Amino acid sequence: MTLSLPHVSAARVHAELARGEPAFALDHSVARHVTAAAPWWPSAVQDMHRHGTRLMAHLAARGLDQILDLGSGLPAPRGRQVHQIAASVAPGPRATRTVYVDRDPHAHTARRIDLVDQLGATSVLADITDTTALFELSAVQAFDLRRPVAVLLHDVLPWLSDEEATGLLAELRHRLPSGSVISVTHLLTAPPPYATTPLVRAYREAGMRLRPRDLAVISSWSGTWPAYTHGPHTGAGPLPVCALLLRAPGPGRFTRPAFWSSSRRGTVPGTSAVRRAPRSRFRAEGAIRAGTC
Ligand SMILES: C[S@@+](CC[C@H](N)C(=O)[O-])C[C@H]1O[C@@H](n2cnc3c(N)ncnc32)[C@H](O)[C@@H]1O
Repeated sequence: MTLSLPHVSAARVHAELARGEPAFALDHSVARHVTAAAPWWPSAVQDMHRHGTRLMAHLAARGLDQILDLGSGLPAPRGRQVHQIAASVAPGPRATRTVYVDRDPHAHTARRIDLVDQLGATSVLADITDTTALFELSAVQAFDLRRPVAVLLHDVLPWLSDEEATGLLAELRHRLPSGSVISVTHLLTAPPPYATTPLVRAYREAGMRLRPRDLAVISSWSGTWPAYTHGPHTGAGPLPVCALLLRAPGPGRFTRPAFWSSSRRGTVPGTSAVRRAPRSRFRAEGAIRAGTC
């Protein structure tokens, strides 16, 4: 029999940072270590989570009922999971369908157990950087690819190399049908007081590679797709996290989520999209904070 040694799990560390969920001792010590290095980091993780919940409601209210959650992590408490949010605000009679994908066996198993009595949602253990295998998964093939799909990449891309992240986004843009959307949240490189260098070092000491990136790099992932960005550059709070929402070109309106900062117009480099800067400062609640959907 082969015994696998215990290893730190980004899913468990982040469940503790985001929701205070008790982690195993190993993960708990990492959560404490990275928080000591960057005391603002739990707030930033919580902002990204809040944003994910609100954005899912925003997309579902606009009829997106096929959801691919890549790097889905551990399940949130009942009622706050992606498929439940989607089902609760879906406008039509069509059932929503959600596929959760993660390479972490614990996250996948916990999700499977949690979904045992849930219809319309499934969990898959897979590496999202192998895009050929990803799109061959039977759960993914069960999507109707003549209709739009919402792909969530929330707090996942900082765990991928530049090459992997760029390749994944290019492949998604290539494969997703008209009207599909991709939602990204990401840690930004930042100077003090939110310097990311000590945070990156603390993760490295725990054997994990976290990659904050410049907004220009993150924005470039939209390619030729219309896109909106949201983050400190728009005045949305001081924390160095951003959101990117991009949509496959096609008919129909693509509106900026109403709960993102009100702003003036600008162009996202390399896209036909509008990017907006703030009209007013946000209450200092976080970079990705929400108002009303
Ligand atoms: C910080 S957690 C974020 C979880 C979730 N998206 C959220 O917002 O709470 C990052 C997740 O991405 C997963 N992940 C990282 N690289 C991955 C890969 N190449 N394939 C699949 N999952 C991956 C990790 O296992 C982890 O569960």
